[in-house]
Amino acid sequence: MIHFKQTVSENILAFLDQACPNHGLDTDQLCAMFEYPPDNSLGDIAFPCFKLSRIMRKGPPQIAAAIAESLHSEVIKKAEPVNGYLNIFMSDDYLTSGVLARIEEQGEKYGSHRFGEGKTVVLDYASPNVAKPFHIGHLGTTVIGHSLKMLHQFAGYSCVGINHLGDWGTQFGKLIVAYRRWGSEEAVVNGGIDELVALYVKFHAEAEKDESLNQEARNEFTKLEQHDEENIRLWKWFIDISLNEYNVTFGQLGIDFDSYNGESFYTDKMPEQIQKMRDMNLLKLDDGASIVDLSEYNMPPCLILKRDGSTLYPTRDIAAAVYRKRTYDFDKCIYVTSAGQSLHFAQWFKVVELMGYDWADKLVHVPYGTVSINGEKLATRTGNVILLKDLFANAIKKVEEIMEEKNPDLENKAEVAEAVGVGAIVFYYLYNNRIKDINFMMEDALSFAGNTGPYAQYTYARTCSVLEKAPEIEHGALQITTPEEAELLKVLARFPEKVLDAIHDYEPSVITRYIIDVCTAYNRFYHNCHILTAEDATVKNTRVRVTAATKTTLGNAFGLVCLKKTEKI
Ligand code: ARG
Repeated sequence: MIHFKQTVSENILAFLDQACPNHGLDTDQLCAMFEYPPDNSLGDIAFPCFKLSRIMRKGPPQIAAAIAESLHSEVIKKAEPVNGYLNIFMSDDYLTSGVLARIEEQGEKYGSHRFGEGKTVVLDYASPNVAKPFHIGHLGTTVIGHSLKMLHQFAGYSCVGINHLGDWGTQFGKLIVAYRRWGSEEAVVNGGIDELVALYVKFHAEAEKDESLNQEARNEFTKLEQHDEENIRLWKWFIDISLNEYNVTFGQLGIDFDSYNGESFYTDKMPEQIQKMRDMNLLKLDDGASIVDLSEYNMPPCLILKRDGSTLYPTRDIAAAVYRKRTYDFDKCIYVTSAGQSLHFAQWFKVVELMGYDWADKLVHVPYGTVSINGEKLATRTGNVILLKDLFANAIKKVEEIMEEKNPDLENKAEVAEAVGVGAIVFYYLYNNRIKDINFMMEDALSFAGNTGPYAQYTYARTCSVLEKAPEIEHGALQITTPEEAELLKVLARFPEKVLDAIHDYEPSVITRYIIDVCTAYNRFYHNCHILTAEDATVKNTRVRVTAATKTTLGNAFGLVCLKKTEKI
């Protein structure tokens, strides 16, 4: 639609140049004025004439009528003035030589943009706390973060995905104590994170009875900070064990990172920033702790140093942001976390601004809502957590059962079951507006009938199967003969604009919802129009090419939301 809007804008501009030479508008401004009519039977796009009314000193209905009169372009089928709007319909010729031809020409690039070229975006996402379970609460940061990375890449940005591991803090002191007292190498090697979590939980249970364990843990952490060889070895080992396990889940999602620099990486980078805050008189002592007072900005103080001089979560984030700016010279640095951390980000973003860093406004926090499963809230503290790996395994198993029943002879069943099972969860999650709390209904997520990942992948496989049976595509004449074809092409035409909207709002659900629109339009076309059995060769060729364009668009959109392309289901 962007291209269509541009072409129509040029025509409107030509009209304005004649009718009102001092209008002072350009095509970009006109382009931004278009709206979508509430019902597509009214038109494909609508141009409101209210703003022009002020410039031209005429009533909007009169202007709409005058523009309608002047518009003569092969891209427009008709233009109707209605209540100050000009409702515009695309011509069939534009649908084929404009929309379809562009998709064919651009292929894997269809929907992409170039405005990000030469700029870098840093994305901080997933970022689990080491030696703690990777649970369903992390699904949001992981898949929203990765989707935003793919979206920005699609707009030409070079992207740096950072897994800012929570790999530093007193919990490591606790873990070291627990490991020495109750653990064994064998148990950790065999049990992985589950064993580390068990040790951590045991520590808390024992510390309830014996207060002195807490002091012991603090001592071990201090030794770690002072590079005690044995503690460093254990700490590194705990991280490796955790990472190995996270990587399995990331692999299932098709996600990798450009950097795994976690919180510990910034240990030697904090003093410079703390000194700067001190020099600028930003630091205040509050009951022995060092804080930045933010009362002027209606926020509680940002904690920089504890009473004992040790650093805190915001201190590390500030040092990391400066490091990233220096290393990557980012145009934007995006942080994806649960909305529970919104205040933390607002606070330290403000501190960065007060420190005089002129790029403070390039830091973006992208929050998301909470997850419950089948109506149950998750309680991390009581250990009642649902691990991401279990959730995926469960979904994969259910898909295997469905496939066993519906398509037992499918080749590479295991691979497909993983793509569909994991895809179902990711799609269900990303279908939700990110800030809304979500209640995960497993049955719904896995359904092939609703607005789900399996439905989308099934439709993709359907386009593949049509194309597999179709004759060679001919690049000759095309002819649209049904409203279903026209409607589908109009939906496909919207993809580049949807990508823009998704980036603008940091909202992957724009893409998942769009995928469903495409699938619905394709399936309607598939059921109502003969494709391979069409009698007329031109009609058949057109329908095959429309199917190929659908496959291209769906495939490109899948790549933006961690959904794997399944040729067969
Ligand atoms: N490790 C943190 C957590 O699990 C998330 C880190 C987010 N990124 C950041 N730079 N603060 O809650």
